[in-house]
Amino acid sequence: MNLLHARIPAGTADTAPMVTARADFLESGVYRGLADELARVCADTDGLVIDAGAGTGYYLAHVLSAAPAATGLALDVSAVALRRAARAHPRLGAAVWNLWEPWPVGDEVASVLLNVFAPRNGPEFHRVLRPGGLLTVASPTPDHLRELGDLVLTVDDRKEERLDGTLGEYFARTGRTEVRRTVELTPQQVRQAVEMGPTAFHLDRGDRRSRLDALTEAQEVTVSFAVSTYRRL
Ligand SMILES: C[S@@+](CC[C@H](N)C(=O)[O-])C[C@H]1O[C@@H](n2cnc3c(N)ncnc32)[C@H](O)[C@@H]1O
Repeated sequence: MNLLHARIPAGTADTAPMVTARADFLESGVYRGLADELARVCADTDGLVIDAGAGTGYYLAHVLSAAPAATGLALDVSAVALRRAARAHPRLGAAVWNLWEPWPVGDEVASVLLNVFAPRNGPEFHRVLRPGGLLTVASPTPDHLRELGDLVLTVDDRKEERLDGTLGEYFARTGRTEVRRTVELTPQQVRQAVEMGPTAFHLDRGDRRSRLDALTEAQEVTVSFAVSTYRRL
């Protein structure tokens, strides 16, 4: 369902090539540990799970598989991504929406709000989450993919601090876990990791494209995420 009529700025929604790269990369299982951790954190959920910035629905589908009484709603501004999300799980609905606008859902309807590497609208998170509900936010830690250097846009060292600052008016943090492993990425997976993220909008800057083309060998990289949980104030 595309509820979005306003134009959105270029460089906001994931494009078709980014979505294909993300879907292929996620399907290869490299970030499966994060999906498992999100499913563990949300396991007892039996109401509505809203994934804000759901992309292809990969993480929401994992959460729903571990919560048989829950239903899911994927919100994302990328129609291409949401077409995939809508097919990702039988209990999942999807709506194209700009998260910075008031969301097309009622007050206190969600038991769980998921937010994985996507924009955070604190006031709307607060409005749609029911009292006692769970907000779960996943973000990369500073050493995530560090071996790829400036092939990927770097993670701000103070991102988590800023995250608590953004949400602090509305939520209190109740827990934090880290998912961290070293994985071997094929040249194709390195390319997907670059092309599925915001770096895709800056591929022609510097020599990124030629460096990607020159890759021939698998590379060990760190994948590292923080999963934080919050309760409504
Ligand atoms: C880095 S991707 C993460 C997608 C998904 N959570 C995942 O990890 O596979 C960021 C997502 O946020 C979406 N997005 C960016 N700005 C948005 C906005 N203002 N409203 C809704 N979605 C937005 C993009 O289209 C993209 O799907």
